[in-house]
Amino acid sequence: MSKFITLEGVDGAGKSTHIPTIANLLRAQGKEVLVTREPGGTPLGEKLRALLLHEAMHPETETMLMFAARREHLEQVIKPALARGVYVLSDRFTDATFAYQCGGRGVSADKVRQLETWVQDSFQPDLTLLFDVPIAVSTQRLAGARDPDRFERENGEFFERIRQAYLARATDFPQRFRIIDSGKTLKEITKKLEEIVLSI
Ligand code: TMP
Repeated sequence: MSKFITLEGVDGAGKSTHIPTIANLLRAQGKEVLVTREPGGTPLGEKLRALLLHEAMHPETETMLMFAARREHLEQVIKPALARGVYVLSDRFTDATFAYQCGGRGVSADKVRQLETWVQDSFQPDLTLLFDVPIAVSTQRLAGARDPDRFERENGEFFERIRQAYLARATDFPQRFRIIDSGKTLKEITKKLEEIVLSI
């Protein structure tokens, strides 16, 4: 049986570093794995990503474009792969919208839930790995980034609200969330990921 696994965390939490590790652990178990990302994952989604990361816009416009990209992603990539028995690893999904647009930008969670139902019906990830780290650490990691995008340029308070919104999601959906302490060493994190992958 295929599984839809999502990876979440504030910018600079280090999740992207660990995606190849998770994919390789699954492949070592004989699973076929597709790695994808949001916003993006389709040709149109990647064009929307460029707009989302670089063009100023109203927070609700931002929210709707995230879901427009997601609609394409679900239809063209995620659902067909799952139907073929492939494990799908997505670097971000709808929890990011609740964290960034609701927590970070203050968009109404009710509106986002309506869009979620419209775009996904009851479809949800089977497993969500939340890479959690204090904002002082993630902003330090981001400080070295060249050419930061609209999100990466935001201040520590914005990211603190996002972090808290993610942690609240993890409390609300404990059956699918696993929190990874991203402040730990690479070795410790890899060990934790191995445990999680083995338990799937
Ligand atoms: P990335 O840097 O992890 O690839 O993500 C791009 C940015 O998009 C990141 O700063 C988080 C943001 N984002 C949202 O604000 N809402 C969303 O729904 C998604 C999927 C990403």
